[in-house]
Amino acid sequence: MENETPQPPETRRGFLTSFLAGITALLAGIIPPLAGLGVLLDPLRRKSTLGKAIRVTTLAALPSDGVPRKFSVMTDRSDAWNQFRNVPIGAVYLRRTDEATVEAFNVACPHAGCFVDYRNEEKKYLCPCHNSRFNIDGSVQDPKSPSPRGLDSLVVEVRNGDEVWVQYQKFQAGHAEKHPAI
Ligand code: FES
Repeated sequence: MENETPQPPETRRGFLTSFLAGITALLAGIIPPLAGLGVLLDPLRRKSTLGKAIRVTTLAALPSDGVPRKFSVMTDRSDAWNQFRNVPIGAVYLRRTDEATVEAFNVACPHAGCFVDYRNEEKKYLCPCHNSRFNIDGSVQDPKSPSPRGLDSLVVEVRNGDEVWVQYQKFQAGHAEKHPAI
């Protein structure tokens, strides 16, 4: 039977010192890249402005006969590196449905995202890309239209008697149901 030779204390100390040095080097190698990754991804963690109410125009700018008008949606945006004041993030059609009530649609066609045009002589929206046609209330007018759903309505409210605020939102194209885009 063999006896185990006890190791001298210096050898154990040497091993412990090497082990701790290895752990320290490992942490020193991992932590800086992780911190850099956090900075790099920071803009992705910023809150989106989509879905927030934005003041778009006034009631006075909307024809009283219910003809839709197109408006850019402007707001401030920022990310980790830049701040942008009053930049366009999309566009909407607005129309009065009565004296103080407004209807809003995102201008993007739900088929593939082209901007639709309003044709006043036909009282309908037409998508120039693949000819989807929509009634003035946003519903699909022509069943042969490739769009899988009507125009995307948006929440709109009149504040302070005259200001038109829209909860601007983008939706995924190509689905029969409205799914908010991220
Ligand atoms: S993008 Fe509008 S019909 Fe295709």
